[in-house]
Amino acid sequence: MRPVTPSRKPFRLVFIAGLVLLVGWLAFRSARAEGAKPADASPMSGSSPAPAAAWQMKMHEISRFLGELAPFLYDETKFKDPANKTKIESLTEKLAGLAHDIDQKKMRGKGLAAPDLDPALQVISAEFDETVTRAHQGFKEGHFDYARSLLKTSVSHCISCHTRAATPGAKPVAGFNSGLAGAGAAERVRFYAATRQFDLVAQEFETTFSSKPDSRVVDLESAARVALSVAIRVRKDIGEAARIATRVSTHPAAPDSLKEEAKVWLKELALWKAETPTAPASSSATLAAARELVIRGQLMQQSPSDARGDVAYLKASSLLHDMLKKKVTKEEAADAYYYIGVCYEALRDLGFWSLHESYYEACIRTKPASPRAEGCYSRLADSVRLGYTGTRGTDIPSSVQRKLSALEKMAKAPAAKPRPRP
Ligand code: HEC
Repeated sequence: MRPVTPSRKPFRLVFIAGLVLLVGWLAFRSARAEGAKPADASPMSGSSPAPAAAWQMKMHEISRFLGELAPFLYDETKFKDPANKTKIESLTEKLAGLAHDIDQKKMRGKGLAAPDLDPALQVISAEFDETVTRAHQGFKEGHFDYARSLLKTSVSHCISCHTRAATPGAKPVAGFNSGLAGAGAAERVRFYAATRQFDLVAQEFETTFSSKPDSRVVDLESAARVALSVAIRVRKDIGEAARIATRVSTHPAAPDSLKEEAKVWLKELALWKAETPTAPASSSATLAAARELVIRGQLMQQSPSDARGDVAYLKASSLLHDMLKKKVTKEEAADAYYYIGVCYEALRDLGFWSLHESYYEACIRTKPASPRAEGCYSRLADSVRLGYTGTRGTDIPSSVQRKLSALEKMAKAPAAKPRPRP
């Protein structure tokens, strides 16, 4: 068991609803994979220009409101105290407004384009908007527990966008951390990653794994995995990742399962370190490398919640996210979506929830009627079925089933249809 985050079930419906809304728009998006227009975004490869000023400004506002919400978010009593209701409601409303502003689905063409071409931004921004909007509605209606867990989930969305790969190192926005008094170590690590205070992620990891052998297991696991993700994907620092893995594998309070996982991370990092660094690879070389990593991850991982494959999956997904910031063909995009999907499926306890399903869907829509689309459909269908399987069997709502059937048809449509393309 890996009780890192609250049960994903309550969020399941939220995300499915989000996915349904995404359907039409993703189809629209898929056209971008091939005819990607770097003109309406600034791909951040190579010299990595800073994100557009408007985007940056929004992000600062978002950080500010999240920081102001933090004292309530991390203290259940304060969150439910009627004396704080007006304040929390107003902050949540502001956050929802900002989430809406960066929603690539709704804001398309209105001047606030995402700062790079990676479709992750499209997918996550829509889920983020949906989640915070529901949190606001839920809070207004007095569903405080529901609203609070949704707001905590929304922190995962910040993390998902910011820890994809190395991105221009904006200087950390200081001053939002005063509300963290009630937060546990895992919550602090996640808050720092969400607000891009990556030095503090490393620091908090150190504290959690230092002299306190009584740290809660859930804090240890979460802190370790988020810190590892930042070291590998954001910092691309193998040395730091190895230090984290060593700390985890030798910490007296870490559960044996986590120690075993960390030992596998160490082996994988040693292999990585021994590689000769190569010049920026072509898309096909990147895909081949990612495929190999994913297969290795799958061989190492012993159960869906097992983190042994983390290093391989984090490295593969970061390679692919970097690749997707540039222009790629539809085939390459569909392949990349498939492998990123597999990575996020394995990494979902890290807070990526149902992100993998969005990628499988994007894969089908980008290259329909192809063996790759069929592979994506098969993984999507398995994942959706699993999500609706409980003690009383599998019960998929009919709207979800209809959508699955449509995607199945799209994935398997006869490839013989003439397409005016070489
Ligand atoms: C849809 C994706 C997405 C979501 C959701 C998102 N961000 Fe960002 N944010 C970005 C991108 C893209 C950048 C530019 C740097 C990068 O690529 O990571 C950025 C940059 C930032 C920055 C640095 C700004 C600067 O000075 O350059 C902060 C701070 C920030 N985000 C805070 C947040 C917080 C807090 C949340 C959640 C409450 C959040 N963001 C949610 C995509 C997102």
